[in-house]
Amino acid sequence: MFKGTIRFFSENVYLFMGILIGLYFSNIFSYTEAPSSCTIKTRSIRNETEIQEIINSSVNKFAPKPLIKKPVSNPNKPKLIRPRYYSTELGIREKLFVGIFTSEEKINSQAIHINKTIGHIVDKIKFFITAQYKLKTQYNLTGLVGFTDSRHKYRPFQVIKFVADTFSQGYDYYFFANDYTFINAHRLNEIIKKISVSMDVYLGKRVKDGSYCNLDSGILISASVLKAMRNHLDWCIMNAVSEDPSENIGRCAYHSFAISCQESVQMESLPSFKIKHFELLPHLKEMTMKKEFNEAVTVYPVLKKDDFYTLNAYFLKQRLAMLQEETQDISTLLTGEEWPPGQRQGAKPATRFDLPRQYYFNATHIFFPDDFSTLKQLNKAELKEHEEIIEEIKLKTLNGNGKNLKYMELVNGYKLFDLSRGMDYTLDVKFEDLNSGKQLIKRFEVCKPLGNIEIIQVPYVTENTRVNILFPVQETEVPLATEFLTNYASLIMDRKEKTFLLVILLYQYNSESKGSKDPFAELKSFSTAAANKYKNDDVKIAWLSIRLPDLPKPLYLEDNRALNFAIVDLALKKIGLDSLTLILDVYCNISVEFLNRVRMNTIQDFQIFNPIPFRQYNPKVTQMNTLDINKFNGHFDREEYKYISFYGKDYVIARKKHQHILPLIRVDNDISNILDEDHKTIGNIFEMFIKYYDKLHCMRATEMGLKIRYHDETDWRRKNAFLGSEAELAKLMLTKKEIYEAS
Ligand SMILES: *[C@@H]1O[C@H](CO)[C@@H](O)[C@H](O)[C@H]1NC(C)=O
Ligand SMILES: *[C@@H]1O[C@H](CO)[C@@H](O)[C@H](O)[C@H]1NC(C)=O
Ligand SMILES: *[C@@H]1O[C@H](CO)[C@@H](O)[C@H](O)[C@H]1NC(C)=O
Ligand SMILES: *[C@@H]1O[C@H](CO)[C@@H](O)[C@H](O)[C@H]1NC(C)=O
Ligand SMILES: *[C@@H]1O[C@H](CO)[C@@H](O)[C@H](O)[C@H]1NC(C)=O
Ligand SMILES: *[C@@H]1O[C@H](CO)[C@@H](O)[C@H](O)[C@H]1NC(C)=O
Repeated sequence: MFKGTIRFFSENVYLFMGILIGLYFSNIFSYTEAPSSCTIKTRSIRNETEIQEIINSSVNKFAPKPLIKKPVSNPNKPKLIRPRYYSTELGIREKLFVGIFTSEEKINSQAIHINKTIGHIVDKIKFFITAQYKLKTQYNLTGLVGFTDSRHKYRPFQVIKFVADTFSQGYDYYFFANDYTFINAHRLNEIIKKISVSMDVYLGKRVKDGSYCNLDSGILISASVLKAMRNHLDWCIMNAVSEDPSENIGRCAYHSFAISCQESVQMESLPSFKIKHFELLPHLKEMTMKKEFNEAVTVYPVLKKDDFYTLNAYFLKQRLAMLQEETQDISTLLTGEEWPPGQRQGAKPATRFDLPRQYYFNATHIFFPDDFSTLKQLNKAELKEHEEIIEEIKLKTLNGNGKNLKYMELVNGYKLFDLSRGMDYTLDVKFEDLNSGKQLIKRFEVCKPLGNIEIIQVPYVTENTRVNILFPVQETEVPLATEFLTNYASLIMDRKEKTFLLVILLYQYNSESKGSKDPFAELKSFSTAAANKYKNDDVKIAWLSIRLPDLPKPLYLEDNRALNFAIVDLALKKIGLDSLTLILDVYCNISVEFLNRVRMNTIQDFQIFNPIPFRQYNPKVTQMNTLDINKFNGHFDREEYKYISFYGKDYVIARKKHQHILPLIRVDNDISNILDEDHKTIGNIFEMFIKYYDKLHCMRATEMGLKIRYHDETDWRRKNAFLGSEAELAKLMLTKKEIYEAS
């Protein structure tokens, strides 16, 4: 026995000497700033493999997978690879990640309480536990991360590795605490907001006479320090001489970044309060008298459920009082000039030409609603809105000093919409005075401010989708089509944009479709040549012939709008239903950006895109034959619905419901069924989507990448024929008149 002890001592003599030296050194150093142990190697870890095993010893299936570094892109393929989110590309990070050290036994108690009190306030929260086997029960708590290695002292390093590998891109600050620490997350957020993101932070409360932060009171670490610690994990594990996680983290931070626990950064600190009673409630009152308690970001130890919620309620109440005080302070600053109080005043127009338009209306009509009409009936939505406002006015008058008034009617109404403020109404309302029987008119001002911006979740799309362009050409349009194709080849095809152009040739009944008399011979040979040239690339081109039915007069798209549907029905047969389809025509002039916007704005099962193109005025009137976007050359054509993009499947869903109005076209011969008078004007695909696919979002927006060359407008229902701007046309009329009078 005695012999055995001696042998034990002599075998481990270096180890004990180490410990003794360590104790000696730690005594010396504890008075200085250095961490309390430096060179002692009382380590139990011997080789690299073991260190790697400890580091690797995570994680269960609940945890998110670490970010996998993308391989450096292949130099042969210089195409830009877009990250999945804008935030990644722009380097936008969230503020705060919270990690709680807990255990399997506490998941259903402490961890839940912490999650309930702060889970919705911080950007992300994770709970770290030991999970040597598969977790037995299905826990309600999400955000669990299990580590297989149960050795307590290595846990901080596993956590650092896991967090750094999984979340290092995403957060500015990482806050770690134990499961018995109550966190006042609102205060924590406020403190973090005040610290510059460029600071290197290892903030907390120092242990007594030490230079590392106490994990009990929470430790705040910046992304920079976390990353450094991740890079020195081997050293940290080899030198983890203590069982105390606070000390282990501290030593690792000191070695990795030469940083010891900061008690304040940029004047901000993390005050913490240690409860010295075993019962909270009887002592709460006395604690709330203390400044340290009221300022605390963390309070520990908290072990009972009720105590968590009591503390939470106390600090929330404190915050509420503070916010109310702030609101009061701000209200006193209101000048009284703004109306309604606190509401943004409208934008100040730069010149008198920028004044927002004020519309006049009566109970049934609106006057000069746009540039083209003088009078328009109010639609259902407008009527409903006015009705609601009148109701509100009635309520206000009757509850105020107008109890003896009776509402009669709306006399005048004016409304003005300001993009930065909302809708302002001025209303003259007629009342009858019930006492005297007299009628009187009162004026009211009503403001409907804009609400908060709402973000709508939209499915993920990329700019890598192939755009299938349907390009119908009539026999009369061959020169224009040739011009489009020439431009298209140099702009789109030479750049190898991922597109497929389907040229749709509309043959009149008796036209030749072969040989030199073929009206489309030129387009066909162009397509064949282009198809051969780009055979191995992503750009594709092909043509599809459609034979129009036999009629006494030639058939034109402009007179038979139902042909729009016939073309899409027949073309989708060729290109398939899974494809993104865009409809253009020979007057179009498009840009690459436009194609990208088509790709981003058209979402299967969710959204179609209907760009409002810029349309050129008659060059003879403007004396300019360019397509530059300015007010002399043209205007955005709000009456145009022809150019539209959608997914084939969505089209088919809507079209099937629409077929009782317009039968489906399966072969060329079916076209003769839709040429009667009833179908002449049914040709608006956008309208079909609106009416027959109500789940789908229909996006319509001005589009500068889509320009339309001037052409004669044959649709008599249109208000604007795009001859020229009002000023140009007026000038023209005056000069013509002079000429006329002079002669
Ligand atoms: C490292 O340690 C492990 C276990 O402690 C052992 O199995 C392994 O052989 C060691 N490797 C080296 C290179 O010493
Ligand atoms: C630890 O993980 C890394 C990859 O993450 C792997 O290359 C290495 O072999 C692992 N080491 C051990 C000991 O499991
Ligand atoms: C944890 O917090 C999150 C965020 O507030 C919440 O969605 C979730 O339901 C909470 N889980 C439990 C078990 O309370
Ligand atoms: C999970 O939530 C359900 C419903 O809220 C509850 O009945 C159940 O006890 C919870 N399970 C655990 C393990 O807390
Ligand atoms: C509104 O004005 C239009 C055009 O003057 C008129 O026809 C209509 O009757 C007016 N409505 C009311 C309710 O007075
Ligand atoms: C659009 O018009 C401009 C100017 O007329 C021309 O340079 C360009 O090639 C045209 N692009 C297409 C695709 O037609």
